[in-house]
Amino acid sequence: MNIKILSANANLYSTQRLVEAAKARNHDVEIINHAKCDIVIEKKNPVIYYKGHKLDHTDAIIPRIGASVTFYGTAVVRQFEMMRVFTTTESQALVRSRDKLRSLQILSRAGLGLPKTVFTNYSKNVKEIVDQAGGAPVIIKLLEGTQGIGVILVETRKAAESVIEAFNNLQARVIVQEFIKEAGGADIRAFIVDGQIVGAMKRQGKDGEFRSNLHRGGTASVIKLTDEEETAALKAAKAMGLGIAGVDMLQSARGPLILEVNSSPGLEGIEQATGKDIANSIIKYIERNV
Ligand SMILES: Nc1ncnc2c1ncn2[C@@H]1O[C@H](COP(=O)(O)OP(=O)(O)OP(=O)(O)O)[C@@H](O)[C@H]1O
Ligand SMILES: [Mg+2]
Repeated sequence: MNIKILSANANLYSTQRLVEAAKARNHDVEIINHAKCDIVIEKKNPVIYYKGHKLDHTDAIIPRIGASVTFYGTAVVRQFEMMRVFTTTESQALVRSRDKLRSLQILSRAGLGLPKTVFTNYSKNVKEIVDQAGGAPVIIKLLEGTQGIGVILVETRKAAESVIEAFNNLQARVIVQEFIKEAGGADIRAFIVDGQIVGAMKRQGKDGEFRSNLHRGGTASVIKLTDEEETAALKAAKAMGLGIAGVDMLQSARGPLILEVNSSPGLEGIEQATGKDIANSIIKYIERNV
């Protein structure tokens, strides 16, 4: 088969592992930088050019699209779909997953547990926002944040109101969320490929840190998910329409609560924590579908 990995950085662990896994199963594999693809649209003849060459004979793509290039990356994925190429992540699901508000709305409709979350349009009623999120302490998150940066634990109501007001003034959009204390500075990630959990890990923040991000000094270890956690993770990936998903959950007194569903989950942390060949599972997923 001819498999193309859409990735802006050929040196990333995840990209390299997918190349290795595809080659190990005797496929032709190529890394394509989606940002450098040109899309040609005309009547019934969708074409993609990359570095001056027409990309044809592609059987499947594995999109690894960074959040900063969602718009163009999605257009390239959609063009491949129009060329009837199998994609491990559908363009619609990619777009859906990148909109945090929409994602939470979809997960809520699917009946999944979520930390109570308030979005507002720079509302001046900061008191009410804090109340709606269950009162202090609350978590305040910058909508554009990643790797734990812009996620703040605010202990008191007064402080929460000041922080929300400050962000509102800067026109920085935030969400205010119930703080799940009993998660104990940890979260769990379930890695899903084609409706199956292929690996799960627990990430624990360093001492005194409520954020479990590995970038913030957290450590990852393999865990066995409970039935309830497995069901929630699979349901979340399905609701989002993702063939490959990294479902992040908090372990709470009322069961698993979904934090986020990632559409381009990294392979490094999960492969190292679990010792599993997840890249291989992704290539086999393609083989079953092409
Ligand atoms: N409501 C909450 N209650 C308790 N802990 C939380 C809550 N929200 C987030 N955390 C902790 O903070 C960490 C970072 O939060 P989150 O994953 O929402 O943001 P991020 O990692 O910066 O963004 P993204 O995952 O979108 O890249 C989580 O992994 C979790 O450990
Ligand atoms: Mg996170």
